[in-house]
Amino acid sequence: MIQTVAWVVSLIFMTAIAGIFLFVAIKSKEKREYEPIKKKWYKARTFYGTTLVIAFLVITIYTLRELPYNQPLYGDEQEPTIVDVEAFQFGWHISEKEFKVGEPIEFDVTSADVTHGFGIYDEDRNLIAQTQAMPGYTNTVYITFDEPGTYEILCLEYCGLAHHVMIATIEVTE
Ligand code: CUA
Repeated sequence: MIQTVAWVVSLIFMTAIAGIFLFVAIKSKEKREYEPIKKKWYKARTFYGTTLVIAFLVITIYTLRELPYNQPLYGDEQEPTIVDVEAFQFGWHISEKEFKVGEPIEFDVTSADVTHGFGIYDEDRNLIAQTQAMPGYTNTVYITFDEPGTYEILCLEYCGLAHHVMIATIEVTE
């Protein structure tokens, strides 16, 4: 689905750019008075420049308002379930694998050997949360599942010959 959208959007932009090049190439033979063109397009430049600056400011402020990211979204009085995750060649030690919808969870992720990637996938294989599993470090993922189901933990970092078998599942129930 996302690939199809990306493909269609790329195609539209490629056609638009090709169209602009074609337009310029055809028009390049035509001669016109320079001053009025300059005046008109300097105005346009000021307008579009200002619009862009304002748009980027609004977008930046809007998207930064949740900083710092990956902070728990539940209240202080609600204690998360702490789950210890240790990646190893080639599997996962996960201290708890059954959760409830709406239960705040804190995954504390580390590695016993090399760097792995801890990725949580939903049933449609959409990546919903991830962090690096690094030896000597603990990286935290806060998550509250809002859909019941079987979620998969996949390794996101090539870590050796059996990287692809690093799959675990967790269950989320109502
Ligand atoms: Cu562990 Cu790839």
